[in-house]
Amino acid sequence: PKSNLVNIVEVGPRDGLQNEKGIVPVDVKVELIERLALAGCQNIEAGSFVSPKWVPQMAGTAEVITRMTRLPDVHYAVLVPNQKGLDNLNTLLSTYNASSSTSDAETTPPPSDEISIFTAATDAFTKANLNTSIAESLSRLRSVARAALDRGLRVRGYVSVAVACPYLGQVDYTKVREVANELREMGCYEVSLGDTVGQGTPAQVAEMLEEVKKSVPVEMLAGHFHDTYGTAIANVFTALEHGVRTIDSSVGGLGGCPYSPGATGNVATEDVLYALRGSKYHVAGSEYGHGSIDLDKMTEIGWWISGKLGRESVSRAGRALRAR
Ligand code: HMG
Ligand code: MG
Repeated sequence: PKSNLVNIVEVGPRDGLQNEKGIVPVDVKVELIERLALAGCQNIEAGSFVSPKWVPQMAGTAEVITRMTRLPDVHYAVLVPNQKGLDNLNTLLSTYNASSSTSDAETTPPPSDEISIFTAATDAFTKANLNTSIAESLSRLRSVARAALDRGLRVRGYVSVAVACPYLGQVDYTKVREVANELREMGCYEVSLGDTVGQGTPAQVAEMLEEVKKSVPVEMLAGHFHDTYGTAIANVFTALEHGVRTIDSSVGGLGGCPYSPGATGNVATEDVLYALRGSKYHVAGSEYGHGSIDLDKMTEIGWWISGKLGRESVSRAGRALRAR
């Protein structure tokens, strides 16, 4: 791409908190999302409408997204696994539309304007995460995407285990390409490629991206790297070199995936912001982050939310900045 503007999708409130042992109270989640927006984040994954039996940590999402103060020009996305999840979101959005006056609607964004749908590059992982096969998940998601687009929602797609699978090991990149392309064809404006396990190396990420780019324009791709083996920042730069301009990251390095045993959090947003300083890349953000995302504010948020979880921030830049 011609532009060196990098979009960050802050996934801490969703990918981060879904994998914590403790359940974070609704008011803390609300404060987290509000603070992220006030640090300049313009894309925030706020929670999930998944089965609370599968992921109890995300059970309060409906309350979170109705209670939080929403800023204009910020996209608040929620993860939806199936039609039931979309129905639950739609019920909430209908109540909101019926109760908000026109003047409110002009200044306050709706509780959510975007869904994230997800599947994977292996049947074994799709079974563990969605209790179905890749083919069946795609056929379900196709109608979910259509219904969401009809309601005016943006739809973002995820391909999990894009590099390695916790059950099968090395993943076939042609399968990643096929699944990514299916998500594009069903109307996803962007497809995020997930190294769910966080064991991908830059060389593998490069090879995977070159394969996927054969079917999906690189402008539509995002990189989603977990940091289990410490390669996430290197993988972010590899993705940027290969033309990707959207990166998913979590404040404080929160996160993991409940169905990927041993996987650690996403690459920390603070680490991405720090590593891109002085480079040819510019991180997009709102006026609250002075046209970018404010690293100092993110560092504070990372420590604050980690404290709520009873531990320290695992962001390397966040730790170093705090120690200064
Ligand atoms: P299932 O058990 O096959 O579902 O699970 P079911 O349709 O048979 O329904 C079972 C029960 O769940 C029923 O309730 C449904 O009503 C209820 P019961 O009759 O037993 O009382 N149910 C729901 N409740 C609330 N919201 C819903 C919903 N759907 C059904 N949407 C299902 C299938 C898809 C529900 C389940 O597998 C699920 O929720 N999976 C989500 C797992 C998840 O959230 N994983 C983490 C997110 S993905 C990720 O982290 C990877 C990513 O970060 C990228 C990367 O790193 O690779 C995105
Ligand atoms: Mg993830």
